[in-house]
Amino acid sequence: MNVSELEQSLNSVMEKLSNAGLTSDREKYVNFLAQTYYFVCHSVPLLELAIRHSQNDDFIKRSLEHIKEESGHEKIALHDLKKLGANIHDYPEWNWTQNFYGRQYDLVLEDGEILLGYILALEGIAALGKKAAKQVNDNFDRGTKFVDIHVEEDQDHLEKVLAQIERSKVKQLIYINFHHTVSQYEKFLDLLSQVEEEDLKIAA
Ligand SMILES: [Fe+2]
Repeated sequence: MNVSELEQSLNSVMEKLSNAGLTSDREKYVNFLAQTYYFVCHSVPLLELAIRHSQNDDFIKRSLEHIKEESGHEKIALHDLKKLGANIHDYPEWNWTQNFYGRQYDLVLEDGEILLGYILALEGIAALGKKAAKQVNDNFDRGTKFVDIHVEEDQDHLEKVLAQIERSKVKQLIYINFHHTVSQYEKFLDLLSQVEEEDLKIAA
């Protein structure tokens, strides 16, 4: 897979991201940040577990660097929620969210490198989500830091992840995980688009 093929496979996510209403509707955006907070809390623990289940020195080295980049990102989402006047305790974790990251804990036991599929999906969505990020900034005057720092991910970074996957012995399993993660993320956007002020706390 190259960057343009990656873009193609993320087309429908990008479409949903701009049209789910979460970039303009405060309740949907707050729900997006809250559920994102819950799964981002697992990024570093998942990377650590993946390292323990890998024999590939290159993967281990890059994952250690990735841990440094990722650590504390969940706090940024939490900070944005506070800026928007929302309390995380009013937004419990959805079943969708638990399944989203939960599945990765099982997959990394087989081979830590499979986590690259999840990483590619999330970094790809972040890097290509510039239109949605602009909409968020146009509609909210605060609470946009998590979105802002994640769209700064550059294409060069994506190319490196893709090259790393191409060299992997479990490439097929990584791509299966990538496609599954993308389809789960689409489901997330569908759930967010259905959130109404009244039932947002019981969604999913
Ligand atoms: Fe992050």
